[in-house]
Amino acid sequence: TVGRVLVTAQVVGDAVARLREAGHDVVFRDVDAPMPRGELLAALPGVDALVSMLVDRVDAEVLDAAGPGLRVVANVAVGYDNLDVAACRERAVVVTNTPGVLTDATADIAMSLILMSTRGLGAAERRVRTGTPWRWSLTAHLGVGLRGKTLGIVGPGAIGLATTRRAKAFGMEVLLSGRSSPDPAVVGELDARVVDLDALLTASDVVSLHCPLTPATRHLIGERELRLMRPGAHLVNTSRGPVVDEAALVAALAAGEIAGAGLDVFEDEPRVHPGLLGREDVVLLPHVGSATVETRTAMADLAVANVLAVLAGAPALTPVGG
Ligand code: GLV
Ligand code: GLV
Repeated sequence: TVGRVLVTAQVVGDAVARLREAGHDVVFRDVDAPMPRGELLAALPGVDALVSMLVDRVDAEVLDAAGPGLRVVANVAVGYDNLDVAACRERAVVVTNTPGVLTDATADIAMSLILMSTRGLGAAERRVRTGTPWRWSLTAHLGVGLRGKTLGIVGPGAIGLATTRRAKAFGMEVLLSGRSSPDPAVVGELDARVVDLDALLTASDVVSLHCPLTPATRHLIGERELRLMRPGAHLVNTSRGPVVDEAALVAALAAGEIAGAGLDVFEDEPRVHPGLLGREDVVLLPHVGSATVETRTAMADLAVANVLAVLAGAPALTPVGG
């Protein structure tokens, strides 16, 4: 059966054309920016499928605006904290995400931030770019090396384990901590060790966050946790901003409780805490974890494949929320 599909923003590749080829009536907002809330609510009545971005808040109001015909919300992201999954389930709306296809791209950014933070590359690049005088010396621009250091991975899912593989190639020891432990065979193959969060924070030279944002992980890293970290340690976040209490992070950096941070995500994107902007010991990226042509194309393809499946009466390929 033919359905009406709303795609809330521009996507990479030709996935939208595939919806049209299948005969669906597509409302494609081909704009490189989040859809304003009012526009979204106005476009929803009569929609059978919603292709949403992580910046779209899909809650009861949105679901009710769409009406009882809505069958699937396909989020173009692996994280789905922007969706009220329970409200979707109550209305028998299938929810899908895009796991797997962004694992390597995001792990690459985590590794980039680990390197940038420990070597002070943000500050170093700014120095050259701004024309601040510099010259080579044995003692200038000293970072710390990764070989023999300990990386703590919080959230050992696909992306956390892919980051582990990269860190192993740099000679790091890896500790893993999360609500669910990975397959012991995988932990053994990676030569990693599973510990609890406090032990991880205490022992790690770099802590990298890879957990989903849930009520249990909101402000998982706060004042107490930052105090457990080593004074020379770096915090890297490529998961979701609210996993870190940003005000506590600013205070910990200012007090020298940790040495630096590399952040791809923020508590209130695109706003960045003003206490971070002026600091030389933080690296700030604009949520680019999955931003490669290959990955963004694959994410749109997978979201659309989920829509095509559900509208055809088949099971979704990558459903979330059980
Ligand atoms: C990106 O942040 C995602 O969840 O896919
Ligand atoms: C990514 O695909 C994840 O599930 O961590």
